[in-house]
Amino acid sequence: MLDSLRQTDPEVAAALEAEVARQADTLVLIASENFASRAVLEAMGSVFTNKYAEGYPGRRYYGGCEHSDTVERLAIDRARMIFGAEHANVQPHSGSQANMAVYLAALKPGDTILGMDLAHGGHLTHGHPLNFSGRYFKVVPYGVSRDTELLDYDEMERLARAHRPRLIVAGASAYARVIDYPRIRRIADGVGALVMADIAHVAGLIAAGVHPNPVPYADYVTTTTHKTLRGPRGAIILCRERYAKEIDSAVFPGTQGGPLVHMIAAKAVAFREAMTEGFRRDQERTVENAARLAALLAAGGMRIVSGGTDTHLFLVDLRPKKLTGRAAEQRLEKVGIALNKNTIPFDPEKPMVSSGVRLGTPAVTSRGMDPSRMDEIARLILEALEEEPDALRMAAIRARVSALCRAFPIYPWLPGGDGPGAAPGSPS
Ligand SMILES: Cc1ncc(COP(=O)(O)O)c(C=O)c1O
Repeated sequence: MLDSLRQTDPEVAAALEAEVARQADTLVLIASENFASRAVLEAMGSVFTNKYAEGYPGRRYYGGCEHSDTVERLAIDRARMIFGAEHANVQPHSGSQANMAVYLAALKPGDTILGMDLAHGGHLTHGHPLNFSGRYFKVVPYGVSRDTELLDYDEMERLARAHRPRLIVAGASAYARVIDYPRIRRIADGVGALVMADIAHVAGLIAAGVHPNPVPYADYVTTTTHKTLRGPRGAIILCRERYAKEIDSAVFPGTQGGPLVHMIAAKAVAFREAMTEGFRRDQERTVENAARLAALLAAGGMRIVSGGTDTHLFLVDLRPKKLTGRAAEQRLEKVGIALNKNTIPFDPEKPMVSSGVRLGTPAVTSRGMDPSRMDEIARLILEALEEEPDALRMAAIRARVSALCRAFPIYPWLPGGDGPGAAPGSPS
């Protein structure tokens, strides 16, 4: 493995091998990360990367596209089947580009959109002032209620009536609860708005039938393919047949050039995997693991935002522990536990500091860990976040993280993938 890479470019080969070792030896609790299968990696690292295939299957601007057509048709058919959608576009290079294509299709510059506030769990592309979405459209943010930390649908409805948006964007990056899509559809219908559901985070749960599917209620649905869905980095757009033409032309030529055929091939593979019983069981377990980990951390004195989770992720308010999100992220990184600082709703801290952390269980579940393993993970987190553990204690926690990682190898066929002990750069 990697022989020609080592020969051609030893520096990149070394970085790649170090990354394999880092992933093997880290407990990944970053809610947006996962481990793609070997089959997905093989499709990504394939000669399809050499092919230009502007256009769509059967309607290309280049010759020699017959096999590109095959993989794109497979990806489209499988995406439609998994989510029960009338139309699928599988070409978006990323979640942000999928959202950009929907806005291009549905909106004119200056139109009003209603999107979830980033500070309450929304995404940059849902209307942040520094993002294209906030620069080209008039954005009215909605959020969660201060008391329950649940989406405030009454307030959303009031805002919709007052501002009469053209589009309501539903979906989040850091919201642990089921989103009431039928209710959002009714709010949109009341003011003649379109609905876009961004299911980037929960797509795998939806594909497995363990989370409600917004497809029947939304005009457009976008999702990344690399989070819970466990595919290659990229995205897709699902929509009603009546929007198919404008969505396709908003992706190409509207916002992209040649599609990444190797990534489309890998999306097709991931969608096939998403139809298996093993995938369904893993998604179910991902939710069970998140619920258990949240309950254990709460029992250890942490405050879980909104009191729990319905999904693969949850937010922890660290103020009872007198810690910031940044301090906790840095401390846990030293013991090989990766998660991210995250603002909590109505956070008094700036985003780069923040009062919370976001935890997710897709990656540890893909490694094969079940709820019984969450007990050990919760203990490791609570011990590391106790009042300033000394270096010896931190090293002991690091060793336990490594032992747990070694028991659940991810890529044993890659150099360093079977758990080499401490990864380069981590404390020994
Ligand atoms: C809800 C949501 N939408 C869109 C995106 C953007 O995806 P990408 O990073 O592929 O542009 C993300 C990624 O974090 C997300 O969480």
